Amino acid sequence: MTGQHRGQTQDQQMMEELLGRETRFGVERRSYQPRLCPRLAAGTGATRPLPGFDLEVLRVAQEQLPFVSRNQLVEIVPAAGPRPEAPRRIGIVLSGGPAPGGHNVIAGVFEAAKRANPESQLIGFLAGPKGIITNQHREITREMVDLHRNSGGFHMLGTDRDKIDNAEKMARCRQTCVDLKLSGLVVVGGDDSNTNAAFLAENLREIGTQVIGIPKTIDGDLQVPGLLPIPFGHHSACMAFATEIGNLNSDCKSDLKYWHFNRLMGRSASHIALEVAFQTHPNVILIGEEIEERELTIHNVVRLIADVVVERAKLGRNYGTILIPEGILEFIHEVNILIIKISYISAAYNREASEEESFHQLSFEDQVALIDNSDIWQDYDSRVFLGFPSLLQRGLLLPRDSHGNFQYALVNTERILLEMVATYLRKQRAKGIYKGTFRTQNHYYGYDGRGTFPTKFDCDYTYNLGFTAYSLLANGATGYMAAVRDLHRPVAEWQPIGIPLAPLMHLEERIGRLELVIAKQKVDLESPAFKILERERNKWAMEDHYRFPGPIQFSGPCADTKPITLQLNSLG
Ligand code: FBP
Repeated sequence: MTGQHRGQTQDQQMMEELLGRETRFGVERRSYQPRLCPRLAAGTGATRPLPGFDLEVLRVAQEQLPFVSRNQLVEIVPAAGPRPEAPRRIGIVLSGGPAPGGHNVIAGVFEAAKRANPESQLIGFLAGPKGIITNQHREITREMVDLHRNSGGFHMLGTDRDKIDNAEKMARCRQTCVDLKLSGLVVVGGDDSNTNAAFLAENLREIGTQVIGIPKTIDGDLQVPGLLPIPFGHHSACMAFATEIGNLNSDCKSDLKYWHFNRLMGRSASHIALEVAFQTHPNVILIGEEIEERELTIHNVVRLIADVVVERAKLGRNYGTILIPEGILEFIHEVNILIIKISYISAAYNREASEEESFHQLSFEDQVALIDNSDIWQDYDSRVFLGFPSLLQRGLLLPRDSHGNFQYALVNTERILLEMVATYLRKQRAKGIYKGTFRTQNHYYGYDGRGTFPTKFDCDYTYNLGFTAYSLLANGATGYMAAVRDLHRPVAEWQPIGIPLAPLMHLEERIGRLELVIAKQKVDLESPAFKILERERNKWAMEDHYRFPGPIQFSGPCADTKPITLQLNSLG
């Protein structure tokens, strides 16, 4: 090769590196081999009942899920001796919002199945549950697993929020499982997806397809006290958000001129805001569950923020960071009442209307007129509604998602609160009470955290979840959620278990009617973590006690972090 030719080849390689899709970081991440706890590293193992927990099943769940309601809590232990395992065909579906680590769940199920019998096959359904309904799938190969190991997102298969909520969809899922000869199906998702899993388990039993759910959601609200401290993805997303908030802390402490209003994803519960607060020590942190318990109105919440702004201004500190959980509106009683009533009114209207004339096709004025004419809408409701800023009024009229959840991600709650605080401060200034300057920036962190690379903790956790799901299937379980206990301890002490899905279910309002769904776990105001927040937050409000967590570390001494909330709650 001539010198000139060699030079051209090197230039070409450099161009590839600079402009190609592959990054050095991505390559480096793939090389990490997630750690397995000893119970799973020992092989498929056996299941045995785990005593000491009282899991009650509601009567309505017993009626709708008679078979899976009988499941008992189990743990996975090493088997007495080696046993031959027949090849299995297992389906897997990623469902709901993405969460970092999903690809390692797939890797875990894949490795466990291949180790047990190299002839076993893993079939990935495409674009969420509708992939099962319409039988859109592809077989997962070792190359696919290797290419996606330790990466963020759900793009290996795609995802969506389809609800399997009628006999026709269920029949089509059943047909897909028959056609593909699936002995097992793994559903990776949050509360709604695991609700799907429970109903699939009940309905696919007769055709011999077992169903196991995997606890996923960055929101952190899929928990079972004593058994499942957090779902996967929560830690990674919180760390991604904490990096951003820490950077804002650094900026606002430098130029001393902005109040940053930050909305953090987490539809219902405030787990994300709580964890990010511990990571970053903001000046104000709102916790929805506390607002609900103290029965605060939206004006009280505005006061709560404004009081800190006023007090800091007296110290010459006209800057700060504020954390607002995305689902805060649900916890403000007067707002939540309106959300529920509007949901009933629009659902009743839609039952009579054609698709083109549905509630959400109407103009804002017509929607308001329709609501005003409803029997359940009182004069008081109108007064509250009309007293809200227009951004909030319009937000309350947004359509629900396919599972009937209010779409908080679409409401600019941080902007609404910011404007209300600004109005309040103007009045305080007129009275001579507030003398500061109130310059603001507003931010929303959500989708970015869902797509981040998983932390080392989530890489390991999800890989173990995949192995747990396989062990449960191999031991004949169906209607369970795979879980790992003692996550606050080193991986060597983790304990894989199977939690029955039926006891996790309760009745909840969804698009104007009560439905049996898996209950979301809210922030426990009696938990050690919340008590510590209560103790610390006044200091964070007035002093600049900011914490700068920096970017997520994937290797080296700082890579083995775990959620602070998880660790605080495990202390005495
Ligand atoms: P999952 O419960 O499916 O994990 O998703 C939760 C979430 O990330 C919420 O925090 C957020 O409000 C919502 O998804 C956004 O939904 P969408 O992806 O439909 O915009």
